[in-house]
Amino acid sequence: MQAVAGLPPKARASFAWGLCVRGTYAPSHLARDITTSRSFTRPSRVLARFSTEGGPPNAADTERCSLRGFSFRLGSEGQRSDIFTQSAPVHFARTLDQMLAFLQARMPEQDGKPDMARVEAFSAANPETRRQASYLAAHPPPASLARTTYWGVHAFPATNAMGETRFIKFKVAPVGEADGPTVDAVAARSTGFLCGDLESRIAARDVRFSVMALLGRPADPVMDVTIRWPDEDGHEAVRLGTIVITGIESNAACDGSAFDPANLAEGISHPPDEMFAARRAAYAISQTRRR
Ligand code: HEM
Repeated sequence: MQAVAGLPPKARASFAWGLCVRGTYAPSHLARDITTSRSFTRPSRVLARFSTEGGPPNAADTERCSLRGFSFRLGSEGQRSDIFTQSAPVHFARTLDQMLAFLQARMPEQDGKPDMARVEAFSAANPETRRQASYLAAHPPPASLARTTYWGVHAFPATNAMGETRFIKFKVAPVGEADGPTVDAVAARSTGFLCGDLESRIAARDVRFSVMALLGRPADPVMDVTIRWPDEDGHEAVRLGTIVITGIESNAACDGSAFDPANLAEGISHPPDEMFAARRAAYAISQTRRR
């Protein structure tokens, strides 16, 4: 991941550019119907990071992949959860072997660019790896990170007080006005623009997200992160709570207490797919290297 993105050694291997922020989480009265997790059923402070994929950090590159990230930590001492979301509902690889091959196909050649014939051949042989890019192409992101909708992608088993466990997917949707203007190809892909927009919206207390649980149905596939559930947008969605972003934090605050996908308070369990298992190891390796 690092080599493909051309990042300096201390940068994150993924979602390298980011803005660290703080805020609050307030649960809805429905959260308890879905999970006993005290991260989601109690009010707490939030540490969060908005990010964009691609590198190097701070470069304004109109060719850059437009995937955005939003990771957040909520809950109190001993009951914290780290949730990672991105601006597409699917990942670009189904298995770890496929992810490695996807990246290898994109390794830069001597001229610093990937061999596009090799990339095309890989995509043709692995059509599911096109789905994330197709989604992003069909859904250009809004101009603001604060108006973007983010997905947790994996299916998480959630257990409620009745002892019932069902799969949920996280969807983090901006509260308020509809999505607003889509990205202007040049202006809004510059990280300076994204940063300035976020700062002024935070000052106006205008950065609020509903944390939604999309409720799985019995036959929904839970092992493949490259596909959405059938009629996923038509699934029942329960608002677990609301995040309000209240201030900018130093990037050191997010770098220092690195988010870890394995960090989930009791009541939400680890997704069963192999990509999630791999993430637990990959983030720890990346965090060790960049320190
Ligand atoms: C499937 C859905 C995925 C989502 C939604 C996701 C999301 C994210 C986000 C938002 C970040 C930035 C974290 C931050 O702000 O500190 C991140 C970082 C990262 N991701 Fe993922 N990711 C996914 C899959 C994967 C997979 C499958 C791997 C590798 C096996 C991976 C490897 C990494 C690494 C190494 C980092 C950098 C971690 C660090 O240095 O702190 N991700 N991811």
